[in-house]
This record gives sequence, structure tokens and C-alpha cells, in this order.
Amino acid sequence: MRFVAVGDLQPGMKLARKIVNRKRTSMLEKGMVLTGTHIIRLQNSGYLGAYISDPFSEDIKIAETVKEETFQNGVDAVADASISDIMEVAHALVRDISSIEQISIDLLDLRSFDDYTYHHSVNVAVYATAVATLMGLDDEEIQEVAVAALCHDLGKAMISPDIINKKGRLTDEEFEEIKNHSRYSYEILYSNPLISTAVRQAVLCHHENLNGSGYPLGKMGDEIPLYAKIIHAVDIYDALTSRRPYKEPYAPVEALEYMTGGVNILFDENVVRIMQKVIPAYPPGMDVGLSNGEKAVVIANTPDALRPRIRIYGSGKEIDLSSNLQYRRIFITASGVLMHESKNGVAVLNENRGQKKDAPKRIVVVDDSPISLEQTKAILGEEYDLILLGSGVACLNYFKAKGVPDLLIMDIEMPMMDGIKTTDFLKKSGYEDVKIMFLTAVANKDTVLRCNAAGALDYILKPVNPIYLKERVRIALDKNLDRE
Ligand SMILES: [Fe+2]
Ligand SMILES: [Fe+2]
Repeated sequence: MRFVAVGDLQPGMKLARKIVNRKRTSMLEKGMVLTGTHIIRLQNSGYLGAYISDPFSEDIKIAETVKEETFQNGVDAVADASISDIMEVAHALVRDISSIEQISIDLLDLRSFDDYTYHHSVNVAVYATAVATLMGLDDEEIQEVAVAALCHDLGKAMISPDIINKKGRLTDEEFEEIKNHSRYSYEILYSNPLISTAVRQAVLCHHENLNGSGYPLGKMGDEIPLYAKIIHAVDIYDALTSRRPYKEPYAPVEALEYMTGGVNILFDENVVRIMQKVIPAYPPGMDVGLSNGEKAVVIANTPDALRPRIRIYGSGKEIDLSSNLQYRRIFITASGVLMHESKNGVAVLNENRGQKKDAPKRIVVVDDSPISLEQTKAILGEEYDLILLGSGVACLNYFKAKGVPDLLIMDIEMPMMDGIKTTDFLKKSGYEDVKIMFLTAVANKDTVLRCNAAGALDYILKPVNPIYLKERVRIALDKNLDRE
């Protein structure tokens, strides 16, 4: 079987896995042949696509991490907010995952907009349980991680769906309300005798970032419990790879790249390393585009996570990208659910991920290195109105002449006046509302504390990881990802 993005589904294709929504109103069974009406319904409900079976992909094996029944029971238990059911599902999840010899979470979750939060919680539980297992936690601990993961967003039910699903940018008040959901989840669990303190703490802290920039407590480093570190990382991974009313999904390879960019800033290094072991960058059954213009489907993974074994569409030729000499200079240019938006065989990633276009946001980038400025321009130039400046003084002059931009991206080490001093000066000059993101080559504790003290919204490590920078800028401007 193989995965076909919703935009590429054709009438006559045969489903390899059933598609069921929570209300069981439109169940498409395995083996069913899709009609035009089915496809339109899947499109409108926010599904990413479907797994189909055809002779071309007959032999592609996609591992099932947890049983379909376990997953469905999880969705029901979370939707009903039944703690006793959640405990049972957690047991089943742990049992399913512990019986796998080599854990690989191959299967993309097929969910509608309506079922998002419930599926999200079960997905997070699957990933978290897999990570906890590979980390070598004991059985009781793994069970606790699974329970905490299933419960982490229960508190969202207490927030208006209008805010949860809002398409546009959240107001500050709306974002404050969203941020309450970790506390609400914690309160729901508080008086339940089945729930341990460790589980409650994990739920409360699942939006804490390693550098103290998270919520609700702003805990740093090892003040954050391990369970929370695990759930936080996989939570963001699942959010990145999902389609929401306000954003398009990332392919697994890109989402993993983002996680890597956030290591030691937002995420625990060990957790991210283990995630890279359990989540394939190129899951079997997924389409990829190649730099020579060919399109292929992934057959299986190889020891090189970024060079899978593939089958070329058209010729049917099989290539192991990790060892084939003829293809050693060919690289994968695109992967995943947005492949159908490709132009000339090469997908244009990221194009549709931002907010629906208003006027482009204005971003001032200050860096003494012209090369750095060019790199930032290459990453952000298409989406934003960028003003590139070479020094702190030029930045001050710009503010005086043109006012406060939507965002300021500031290098730290610069001759004359460094980035942090420039920022202090700006704030003292009456521009205290400016949103600042620092770019830094060193992430030692001292720098982190200085950035925080200077009122930094965020900081990015050099060398810049493009996907990470793009997404952090979007979060700074639109707060999308921190909703999860
Ligand atoms: Fe959350
Ligand atoms: Fe979440």
C-alpha cells in the first residue's frame, strides 16, 4: 500500500485502510473503491489523504505500531474524558508497543479537523510511549508517560472551540486563554485517586521549554520533569505534521529537522535523538520527489535515515539511495503530503504554510556579517518584507525613521554595539513594544539569561536551521504552534 495525498486521490482507487471518524457517520471500509463524492468529503473534512492499494505498491509493508482497536479506544476514551478508560487504553498501548522488536512509527494518522484533538492526544501517547520505551524507563514509568500523554490536552475541552480552531492570528487575550489549558488539564486530574503526582506534573508542564520560555510556570532545564520533556517534544512533532484550519502540515523529515533546530533551547537533546530513531524521516509508502525530476515511493528504510529504498514511478525501477552509485548525487527534494502541489516535478515546500496573505509582515534583520544577512534573506525573503541592516547604529536609525517593525531579528556578537546593548538602547528610547528574536552562535546559560533579561521572545542558534527559523518567526508573529 501507499499513501496518496488528498489532492491526488482519484475515483477508482482502492482503500488499503479504513477511514473512520469519531461519530462513525462516514465510515469508509478497507477495500472500498473511492468515488468522487468520497474524495470531496475527505478534502472538506481536512484529511491529509488515504492509504490505497495498487499493484505498484502491493509489497510495501507499513508497520502498525498500535492495533487499530487500541487507537480507536484511545480516541473514544479521550473524547469522553473517562480516566478509567484512559488507564486501560494506556495499558493496551504499552502492551502493543513493548511487543514490537524494532519500533518504527510508519503510519500517518488520518484524521478530520473535527477529530483533531482526540487523535492528537492518542498520537502523542503513541510517540511518547515509544520514546519512553526506547529510553529504557521501567514498565510503571512507561505506563505513567502513556497516561499523562493521553490526558495532556483534556483541559482544552474547557476552552471555546472558536478560539481553539480560530483561523487567523490569536489576540493576546485568546492566547492567554489557550495557555490555561495545561492548568485545566491538571485540575481535571487533581482529585482523581487513579492519577499519580508524576502524571499530574507532566500534564501541567507539557508546554515548558528547556530555556524557561514556556508556560505556565516558566521552568528551566532539569526543573522540568522528564515525562513532560518527552510529551512536549512529541506534542510539537504531532502538531507540525498535522493539518489544522490555520496551517498546512510539515512532512516528517521537515518536522524532525525543526525538532533538531530546537534541541537545548526548547527540547531535550536525548528525547529528540530517540524520536529520530522511532519516527522515520521518510515513512514507507510516502511519495518523494528527486533532484533529477523523478518521482518515487518509499519502499523501506535503510540504516541511513535520509536515504531510503525507493521505487520510481513510471519505470518501476528500485533504488537503494543509501548504496546505489548511480544515484549518489541525487537527493530527495520533497516528501509528504504537499507533493501534489509540486511544480515541474519538484515540490515547492512551505509555500502554503503561512497565514492567508495580508500585507507581508515587516522584519528588520541586524547582523554584521553580509553572508549571514544573505542566508536569512534566502530563508525568509519570500514570505516577508525584510530590511537588512549591518549594525546596531543602523538599526537605531531605522527605528527613528520608520518606526517599529513587526519583528526584529538581532545578531548578538557585533563590533561597536552588540545586539543585546542595541536592544537595551531601543527599549530605553521608547520602543519597548518591539518583538525581538536573537541569533546566537553560543547557547551557554549566560547568553540565555542575558537574552531573557533583554526581553527576547526567542533566540535561534547559528548555523541557522532554515525550517526552524521559518517556524519560529511564524510563531513569534502568529503564535500558532504554542496552541497545541
Ligand atoms: Fe497542550
Ligand atoms: Fe497537545
